[in-house]
Amino acid sequence: MTGSVAVIGSVNQDVVCEVPRLPGPGETVLATGARTNAGGKGANQAVAAAKAGGRVEFVGRVGGDSAAVDLRDSMAAAGVKTTGLREVTGARTGRAYVTVASGENQIVVDPGANFAWESGAELSAMAEAELLAAADIVVAQLEIPVAVVDWAAGVARRFVLNAAPAAELGDELLRRCDPLVVNEYELATISGAPTGTRAQAGQAARSLCLRGAPSVVVTLGADGSILARRTADAVELTYQPAPQVVSVDSTGAGDAYVGALCTALADGVELGEAVAFATAAASLSVRSPGTHDSYPTREQVVAARTAVPRARRLDFDE
Ligand code: RIB
Repeated sequence: MTGSVAVIGSVNQDVVCEVPRLPGPGETVLATGARTNAGGKGANQAVAAAKAGGRVEFVGRVGGDSAAVDLRDSMAAAGVKTTGLREVTGARTGRAYVTVASGENQIVVDPGANFAWESGAELSAMAEAELLAAADIVVAQLEIPVAVVDWAAGVARRFVLNAAPAAELGDELLRRCDPLVVNEYELATISGAPTGTRAQAGQAARSLCLRGAPSVVVTLGADGSILARRTADAVELTYQPAPQVVSVDSTGAGDAYVGALCTALADGVELGEAVAFATAAASLSVRSPGTHDSYPTREQVVAARTAVPRARRLDFDE
């Protein structure tokens, strides 16, 4: 691999509880197990991209606590460069409370230092600007302030946005996203359209292309993903099925997908094939618990790619 990826985003310590089923509103359930592990959508994507073979730089903010040391070590162990990960005086490192049941999860994030950034003008004068400008791909998520995401999009040569957690996006930011990566809930928030079926998700993704996004990838978990691409006079929609696997823990599977996608794009792979590569990575990541430890190596992704079904044109009766 020769391409480089710069990830700008969140770093969290995940406090994970395993429960027999996810609690409803007002309900208390007893955990059958608990652990802490490294997390944060930004850090997860950086590790997934590095394990998939990318040269990866991470730009983020942590507090001056022991969690920050563990998280930096976890990224470095995967080969991620962390010179752009700065400690914010007086802040605490981000923390996420993750509940896992039967392969599904619920997450609440306490952002801490992930929301303690300099202004865009200050960032432009810092080493972070050079790191991002030098990368083939810059990827961000929405666990950091949107103003920082806007700044990163302006500096990037090619910008990928994983709009998670969901938030409304301005047209200028949308025009920079190639691709915008969202799940069906995030797509519904951003597009304002229903996304309950594949056809609806395809139409909603198309509407974002018509609003200006060059491309949109919609991740549908075990049901695969949809790719919408603007061409000269239309929007092309394809459906990428996923291989059927038994999911033990889907926490961070979307991050495995985004990280691998960015590594493939940084290496000059065409977007449709990058989606298939990312699908292989995500299908491997759900087979074991946790985030960083569950992400596959490049060799594993390449081997699993052969089991990824062929993509086809999205049929609107689906
Ligand atoms: O996408 C999974 C991640 O979301 C977790 O690691 C948690 O930290 C939250 O950021």
